[in-house]
Amino acid sequence: MLHLASATGPDWAPRAIAHLDEVLLDHAHLEKKAAGAAVTLLFRYPEHAALQKPLSELAREELSHFEGVLRHLERRGVPFARQKPGRYPGRLHRAIRSDPKHQLLDSLLVGSVIEARSCERFGLLADALPAVDSALAAYYRSLLAAEARHHREYLRLAECFHSSDEVQTRLEEVAQHEALVLAENLPEARLHG
Ligand SMILES: [Fe+2]
Ligand SMILES: [Fe+2]
Repeated sequence: MLHLASATGPDWAPRAIAHLDEVLLDHAHLEKKAAGAAVTLLFRYPEHAALQKPLSELAREELSHFEGVLRHLERRGVPFARQKPGRYPGRLHRAIRSDPKHQLLDSLLVGSVIEARSCERFGLLADALPAVDSALAAYYRSLLAAEARHHREYLRLAECFHSSDEVQTRLEEVAQHEALVLAENLPEARLHG
């Protein structure tokens, strides 16, 4: 089960498919950022042994997703390029409190919610794409289990450092914040747009 405070509306997938190459390029950047976020936590918290192997594995898996999206970009004839980031990540990260007592918890929960939203939207693309690009639809379907597992893994890691009550309470708040960020953003051709 994905812990999200809102469901993506029915207009999102048709809009994403109307700008599919832009969304696919955004997706490539997101997979690379997901790997980078995990590696950043590895460097920021070398004292937390519990984080090291799981986040290293997660980062490698995200880079393999990155390479998978690169293959689909190439197949579709879309060059990989720099792209203006969407508004979502910056606004979402405002939920991360900067004091040392809460920063790790919030970082893990923001990671968890991003994974959940990605998983939800990959599922919508997998359902909507078969008539447009069946290979890409199958690729999105193949990512669902991994992204749902990443969502749970970030929660499990948070529970290595905080009680499950504390994690659940804060998760609700972060998920509410994420839903607000999505609702306030103007539509843009991004995976989290
Ligand atoms: Fe991924
Ligand atoms: Fe992921």
